[in-house]
Amino acid sequence: MMRKGIIAANWKMNGTHTEVTQFVNALATFAAETPGTKPVEVVFAPPAIYLDLAQANLAQQSSNLATPFSLAAQDASQHDNGAYTGEISMAMLRDMNCQHVILGHSERRQYFAETNAVIYEKITAAFNHGITPILCIGEQDQDNQQGKTTDVLTEQLALAIEKLSENQKQQIIIAYEPVWAIGTGRTPSIDDIEKIHQKIRSIFTQNNDTIARDLRILYGGSVNPDNASAIFKCPNVDGALVGGASLKIDSFKQIIKAY
Ligand code: G3P
Repeated sequence: MMRKGIIAANWKMNGTHTEVTQFVNALATFAAETPGTKPVEVVFAPPAIYLDLAQANLAQQSSNLATPFSLAAQDASQHDNGAYTGEISMAMLRDMNCQHVILGHSERRQYFAETNAVIYEKITAAFNHGITPILCIGEQDQDNQQGKTTDVLTEQLALAIEKLSENQKQQIIIAYEPVWAIGTGRTPSIDDIEKIHQKIRSIFTQNNDTIARDLRILYGGSVNPDNASAIFKCPNVDGALVGGASLKIDSFKQIIKAY
């Protein structure tokens, strides 16, 4: 069975009410697949305050949907409810019909001091509420230069490898985002992207063929309409998590088409 690709738009802290509406309407009716292309789904992660708006627009477009299209939050709490001012729970995401949550993005790790332990708690909370986690991992520039990439990725994946069930391992989505490639215009070589994705698949699945067959690993970091198709040719790349280039509808459409 062929893994279905995912092209995800992470808008980070960008966008307006109007832009979210336009994006959903333009994408919902956009036919990503033409005969001969691989199956793909689109995931949109606007700022949390716009998830309800995006969902309402998506619901209105549901009869026109040309390509599977769902929503992701950019983060959520590991706690179910209670006195956590400013936080959003996985139960609330579920309540809003949001299907995915991005967890462990390097910006969360860097600016909000999220540790692998907290990120794992969030993964557990997501699964408990029927939300699929998109777990971001990636090494810093210095780690890369010192040849420590595999060590860093292994450490970031360790708790998930140790504690998730086989079924959860088949469902979780991993996004490999080298920190030095995010928003910089730099990317690893295509060869390196494939090698690292292959490595992630083997580390995470620990030779379990069923998990290896189903696990989707996205690449993120300066994906744009010019480099997307070369990246998508890698057999172990199952799509992309796109930041900057997802803010323009046309660029994002070109990236989807490149899959
Ligand atoms: O989550 C996506 C992201 O971090 C990549 O951002 O702007 O390099 O595509 P960008």
